[in-house]
Amino acid sequence: MKYDLIILGSGPGGYVAAIRAAQFGLKTAIIEKDKVGGVCLNIGCIPSKSLIHQAETFSRIKELEYMGIKVNKSEFNYKKIFEKSRKAADTLSKGVQYLLKKNKIDLISGEGKLLNKNEIIVNDKDIYTSKFILLATGSKPKSIPGFEIDEVQILSSNGALMLENLPKSIAIIGSGVIGIEFGYIMNSFGVEVHIIEILDRILPTEDLEIAEFLEKVYKKRNIKIHKSTKSRIIEKTKNKITLELERKDRKNIINVEKILIAVGREPNTKNIGLEKNGIETEKGFVKVREYYKTNADNIYAIGDIVKTPQLAHVASKEGEIVVEHIAGHSTEKFVDIHKIPSAIYSEPQIASLGYTEELLREKNIQYNKFSFPYRGVGKSVAIEKSEGFIKILTDKETNEILGAHIIGAEATELIHEVLLAKNSELLPEDISKMIHAHPTLSEGIMEAFRGIEGWAIHI
Ligand code: NAI
Repeated sequence: MKYDLIILGSGPGGYVAAIRAAQFGLKTAIIEKDKVGGVCLNIGCIPSKSLIHQAETFSRIKELEYMGIKVNKSEFNYKKIFEKSRKAADTLSKGVQYLLKKNKIDLISGEGKLLNKNEIIVNDKDIYTSKFILLATGSKPKSIPGFEIDEVQILSSNGALMLENLPKSIAIIGSGVIGIEFGYIMNSFGVEVHIIEILDRILPTEDLEIAEFLEKVYKKRNIKIHKSTKSRIIEKTKNKITLELERKDRKNIINVEKILIAVGREPNTKNIGLEKNGIETEKGFVKVREYYKTNADNIYAIGDIVKTPQLAHVASKEGEIVVEHIAGHSTEKFVDIHKIPSAIYSEPQIASLGYTEELLREKNIQYNKFSFPYRGVGKSVAIEKSEGFIKILTDKETNEILGAHIIGAEATELIHEVLLAKNSELLPEDISKMIHAHPTLSEGIMEAFRGIEGWAIHI
C-alpha cells in the first residue's frame, strides 16, 4: 500500500484528521476536488463570520453618532465587505495548505471515488492505494420543490455569501442557523428581511426561551418573521419575485428581490463509489458504528455525511477519534452528544450545550433551572450589551449540569466555561465559588450557578 490513510475531502473533518494522522506517523494523503478547507473555510463558517463582524462594525456607526461624530455613508460599498470576507477565506485556506505541507501530507487535487476497499480513483484515471480510507465529503445546501436555486435570484448560502451587491429585499426560507445569521447580516446593512419558517417557532433545535428572546429582538429590528407559514412563488420577473405566504387560513403576498433557501444541508454521498462497494447508507447518510467505522472495517466516515450534528467542530472531533483509533491510541468511541457546544452568530449571540428544557420535559427528567440576566453583570451594562440571559439546567437529584443556554454578548465564548465544567464532571458549587475577575461577562456564568444553588448576588 502506498498510504496508511487516504482522506476524501479537506474540510474541518478531513484536514484535521490528516494532520492528526501525520502526528502519529501515518503516511497520509488528502484528496480535494475544490478549495482546501472545504465549505467551512471557503463558503461557510469563515466568510459568514467575516460578514457578521463587518455588519457589527457597521451597526456601531450609530454608537458614534451620540458622540457627535457623523459618518458619511454615501460611499458605502458592499463589494468591499464581500472582498474582505473572501480574503479571510483565502488566508485560512492557504493556512491549511501550509499545515498539510508542513506535516508532509500529500494533497491530491481532483475528484476521488472509492474503487474498492483499498483503492481510490481520482478524476477517473489515477489510482491510489491505502490501508485505511476516511470519507469526509461534507454536505451541500438542500433545495425545496418550486424554488429552483439559480444563485442569482434564488440563492443558497453559497450564492448569498458570494453576493457582491446587496439586494433591497430578501425572503429567507428557514429560520435555522443559516437563516438567522443571514437575517442579521442583511438587516444590519439595511436590507428588508422576511424570514419564513414552516414550524411555529424559530431555531427549532435551540431552547425555546432562547429562540423566543431572539425573535423579539429581531422583530424590534424590523425583521419580519413569518412562522407556521408555507410559501410559494407566484411570479418571477428579472428584478422581482412575488411570494404567496400561507398561514392557517390567511394568505398574503410579498415582493422581494431575492430569496435565500436555508432549509438544511444534504450529505455529499452520491458518486463517491459507496453503492458499488456495498457501503451502507440511510437516507443519504453513511451508516457508522463505533469509531465512525462503516460496514467495511477499514473505511470510516465522519462529518456532515454521517448522522451527527452538522457542525465543523463535530467533524473535526470525529476525525480525531477515527485517527486515534487507527493509530492504536485509546479514545472515545463516539462524540458525546451532550458535550457538543453550539454557537450561533446572531446579534445577540446564542450558544448552548446539552439538553434543552423542552427535551428534559419530554424525557421526564427532573431538573433545576436558573436564568441570570445580562443586566445583572456589571461589565455588560458598561459596554451596553445588557440584552440576554444565561440559563443553566441541572439534575434535580445530583445537580449534574444537564444543559446551558446563553443568549447575549460573547455567548459563543462564554459557553466553554460551562462545557469544561461538564466535561470535568464539576458541580455548580465548583463554578459558583470560583473567583471570577471583575468586571467580566464570565461573572454571569458564576451568578447563574449561584442561582442554581439559591444565592445569586446581583439579582
Ligand atoms: P437548519 O436545519 O438549522 O434549519 C432549517 C430550518 O428550515 C428549520 O427551522 C426548518 O423548520 C425550516 N424549514 C424546512 N423546510 C422549510 C420550508 N419548506 N419552509 C420554511 N421553513 C422550512 O438548516 P440551515 O440553517 O440551513 O443550516 C444547515 C446546517 O448548517 C445546520 O446543521 C447548522 O447547524 C449548520 N450551520 C451551523 C452554523 C454555526 O454553527 N454557527 C452556521 C451555519 C450553518
